[in-house]
Amino acid sequence: MDNLALNLQLHNSIKSGVSRLTLTDFRNYPFLRLNTDLCPIIITGENGTGKTNVLEAVSFLTPGRGLRGARLADIKRIRPALVTDEYAPTEISNTSWAVSANVFKGDESFEIGTAVEKNSKENEDDIRSYERRIVKIDGNKISSQAELGKYFTAVWYAPQMDRLFRGGSQPRRSFLDRLVYAFDMEHAKRTANFEHLYKEWAQLLKNGSQDNHWLVPLEENMASLGVAIAAARREQIAKLNTFIEHEPDDVFPSVRLELDGLIEKLLDKMPAVDVEDFYKNKLKEQRRNLLYNDTVDGINRTDFKVYYRKKHMPAELCSTGEQKSLLISIILAQTKSQILHQGFAPVMLLDEVVAHLDDIKRSALLEKICDLKVQAWITSTNPELFYALKNDALFFEVSGNKIRQKDF
Ligand SMILES: Nc1ncnc2c1ncn2[C@@H]1O[C@H](COP(=O)(O)OP(=O)(O)OP(=O)(O)O)[C@@H](O)[C@H]1O
Ligand SMILES: [Mg+2]
Repeated sequence: MDNLALNLQLHNSIKSGVSRLTLTDFRNYPFLRLNTDLCPIIITGENGTGKTNVLEAVSFLTPGRGLRGARLADIKRIRPALVTDEYAPTEISNTSWAVSANVFKGDESFEIGTAVEKNSKENEDDIRSYERRIVKIDGNKISSQAELGKYFTAVWYAPQMDRLFRGGSQPRRSFLDRLVYAFDMEHAKRTANFEHLYKEWAQLLKNGSQDNHWLVPLEENMASLGVAIAAARREQIAKLNTFIEHEPDDVFPSVRLELDGLIEKLLDKMPAVDVEDFYKNKLKEQRRNLLYNDTVDGINRTDFKVYYRKKHMPAELCSTGEQKSLLISIILAQTKSQILHQGFAPVMLLDEVVAHLDDIKRSALLEKICDLKVQAWITSTNPELFYALKNDALFFEVSGNKIRQKDF
């Protein structure tokens, strides 16, 4: 997997991306339609005009909660109450938000639609309504968001990720899991199912249940899903590490990725079936931990560790600019490895990515994006920073909840 191989692959790689995006009642946009090409797309505008919201909308063409990890209820367009009123957002209409897009994957094109559906669940004593994101491909509802991966994939950078290496492990785990989805669609289903089972298990225990009839099958299912999740994470890390080893350590530093997790580590030493047995028993042993608000060890606690390879420095001890560069290195490696292994590129969503990058890094990043021939959506408050792309990119400006294309 050297640079020559990648160049050949890029030459033959399938063009992919969004050719038309339509938003309805999405964040600050009552209605927005954007026609795009499969090239870099630069979106500029003042603070608070709606640049990130456009990228977030594109991120909803992948499984999960999008680039901001938002709650579904926060996305629907609201009109804040007058300043004199007590703050209570007013909903604009009964129908909820929707995003639809025409996407290309080589010669094939698909219409992806996603929106929120209101459902209700009847319990013994009350009816609860809840919202769920539904997805349609060419007008047909799909049973699982994970299937989106057949038609569209995306990698993203958002400014809040600058703190990814410093805080708790949960955002790092989600970041890694999203990298895995792109190669293994089942991973999205498995992680969602695991979370669901874990909640059910925790609820039973907190309600005082000691009934093995209910608890043991849950623990068995969690263990088997958990081992599959751990194995997929390990495979992804190995894939990216081999890929990165062959990359030059240039403007963006070379990284080493590691997994720090009980189950992932056991997979180094034991066959998967034995790890599954171990995990099942471990969960049973840890029932008490849950009751005393103690930690329950397992794949829900695994950490994704990143090192600055040349400096042998853990990412959390690197400078702010270095951490951002390490993140960009991982995102670029993922993009390239998807091109190599899958033959088509993910769409890159890069929110304020050039802020705080020095001139050399900014130029290098833009050049790499052009070389990769991917559709990259890039936001910034300053269009001047993208002069180098004036012949290669589409430029849009956002203001007044509208977006218009402009010449550089
Ligand atoms: N559900 C919602 N309904 C209506 N407006 C919303 C909703 N959620 C967020 N907004 C508003 O959308 C506007 C644009 O937000 P966005 O984050 O896209 O701005 P931005 O152009 O990326 O700004 P910045 O340059 O500061 O990053 C903000 O004023 C925000 O308050
Ligand atoms: Mg923004």
